[in-house]
Amino acid sequence: MPPLNLGDEMPNVAIVTNEGSMKMHEFMKDSWIILFSHPRDYTPVCTTELGRAANLAPEFKKRGVKMIALSCDDADSHNGWIKDVQSHANHVGDFPYPIIADDSREIAKSLGMIDPDESAGAGMPLTCRAVMIFGPDKRLKLSMLYPATTGRNFTEILRVVDSLQLTATKKVATPVDWKVGDKCMVVPSVKKEEEAGLFPKGVETLSVPSGKGYLRMTPMPE
Ligand code: BEZ
Repeated sequence: MPPLNLGDEMPNVAIVTNEGSMKMHEFMKDSWIILFSHPRDYTPVCTTELGRAANLAPEFKKRGVKMIALSCDDADSHNGWIKDVQSHANHVGDFPYPIIADDSREIAKSLGMIDPDESAGAGMPLTCRAVMIFGPDKRLKLSMLYPATTGRNFTEILRVVDSLQLTATKKVATPVDWKVGDKCMVVPSVKKEEEAGLFPKGVETLSVPSGKGYLRMTPMPE
């Protein structure tokens, strides 16, 4: 299976998790999904990331995003590791998302999540820190790849979810460092004569030396 490109459907692979076995599409149903991979259980950066993700779970839930992690160890190992993660992150209660047990690396390999610079020894590669966000149509909307040595910023991940969900239904794009409530850009495919109907709050066209009116700002649509 070739690695996923934006727009590709998540393959309906069988997954074993610390919460049981299922097919990926059964887990996804018609929800937004975040799948994030980790190199290994009981490693320091991964422990901080899983804890942060657990503490942010209510924010993902508020946005209708189901979370699922993946790490290259088995389900028993995941269950033991979760206790460390919760202790380190001061997370109490049920752990809010399952972790795929990919000890064979089959899923990681098929999704292009392998880090060529990291190895578990004996020829076994490790996964990088991949983030894949899927829409309710099970198609890949966003992908990020970080090496094992660089932890991710989960506040940024929530920010991109906000952008993806807004731009899925409105003809806007979100500019640099955008956050909810900020002005948006009108996408280039919108014609001048369509602006008033699509953007009742108004469109401001910024002037640039080229004289081309492509920098069009509008308040964030409801
Ligand atoms: C970590 O999670 O800290 C880590 C895992 C594998 C390689 C480097 C760092």
